[in-house]
Amino acid sequence: MEAFWLPMTPNRAFKAKPRLFVAAEGMHYVEPDGRRILDGMAGLWCVNAGHGQKRIIEAIQTQAAKLDFVSSFQMSHPAAFELAKRIAEIAPDGLDHVFFTNSGSESVDTALKIARGYHRARGQASRIRFISRARAYHGMGWGGLSVSGIVRHRRDFGPLLPEVDHLPHTHDPEHAAFSRGQPQWGAHFADELTKLLQIHDPSTIAAVIVEPVTGSGGVLPPPVGYLERLRSICDQHGILLIFDEVITGFGRLGAAFGANAFGVTPDLITCAKGMTNATVPMGGVIVSGKIYEAMMAGPDSAVELFHGYTYSAHPLACAAALATLDVYQDLDLFGRARNIARVWENAAHSLKDCPHVVDIRNIGLLCAIDLRCRNNAPAARGTECANRCYEDGILIRGSGDTLLLSPPLIITEEQIETVFSAVRRALQAID
Ligand SMILES: Cc1ncc(COP(=O)(O)O)c(C=O)c1O
Repeated sequence: MEAFWLPMTPNRAFKAKPRLFVAAEGMHYVEPDGRRILDGMAGLWCVNAGHGQKRIIEAIQTQAAKLDFVSSFQMSHPAAFELAKRIAEIAPDGLDHVFFTNSGSESVDTALKIARGYHRARGQASRIRFISRARAYHGMGWGGLSVSGIVRHRRDFGPLLPEVDHLPHTHDPEHAAFSRGQPQWGAHFADELTKLLQIHDPSTIAAVIVEPVTGSGGVLPPPVGYLERLRSICDQHGILLIFDEVITGFGRLGAAFGANAFGVTPDLITCAKGMTNATVPMGGVIVSGKIYEAMMAGPDSAVELFHGYTYSAHPLACAAALATLDVYQDLDLFGRARNIARVWENAAHSLKDCPHVVDIRNIGLLCAIDLRCRNNAPAARGTECANRCYEDGILIRGSGDTLLLSPPLIITEEQIETVFSAVRRALQAID
């Protein structure tokens, strides 16, 4: 086991007590001894259609045998164009071009670069600053890390991009604890953007980047009216709005994107994860026609954006993504998520009176449960609770003292009950 340096993992603890899977099907992972684990995390917020979807697997196999690789630098293949068109069709109106990447991190860095490139192309090269938000997770590239709002992720790696500022996050348990869906209270947090504009001249700001629902930072649904207000302040000042939809994209909120679910259209959407049901790494940036057209200035023979990756629009990823979109459509998984979200919400909030619980938040098929920190032992309760669930056959994520849940969209009512019953037992068992 020594050679593999696992990401985001306490390697020594893991290697002393490894957690290995050898197969997966539907809602379950399978351990080497055959024990089945109910996947309450959709892998890592990404296997939205459940594991082992045959249609996706066959599409990848067929594609691998037919065209294994072609670069997208001055050449391409038909499936890349078809996929871009299909994604543009389900994105909000006006977001009609797609730049392909291989991950959420690359999507974020790409979106930040496009934002700066766009302003420069329009003669506004002073617009270089990015405004992000506390508790934001935007991946692990230097750009994404610079706009990250999570101290522990940033701490060891500075200096990061200097031209970044942060809005406060929108979570205030004093006013909005145990909110179901979007909190009614908190739209005014968007006005903090106006305050930042008083410090930084608006003409220096390229873009505001937010997750429509903060994901890894603790599932924070936007207060009612908040995203609308951000949109309107950005419009007033010529600032681009980027939604990082790496988690919220592809059905998690019961619609293709959070932008569709909330009825607020950004200028760029970053996505990844559910795009291929996580079978082949792929990400993308969905861009408005306004941005694309502005970048198409200059001679026809000139490269418009000096950016891209060897594996952008990889044929296997495109085949996987096209089959994934078919599966979402044929099984109506976005509609399914929308319908079952109420059952999910009720099951989540039924834990309100369990020991240690100080807040529960949910939206779509996302949920976070905050636990009171045990004296002098931050993260102990969260970790113990997640581990107990695992022993009980349920995979959830402990992040500090917050439990995070994000199941495949195929989860049944009965399985929802199984998941939250396991969490209840775990909460009752720990001290
Ligand atoms: C909102 C958001 N952006 C970006 C990323 C980074 O994606 P990746 O791990 O594919 O690079 C993530 C990953 O969880 C994410 O949640």
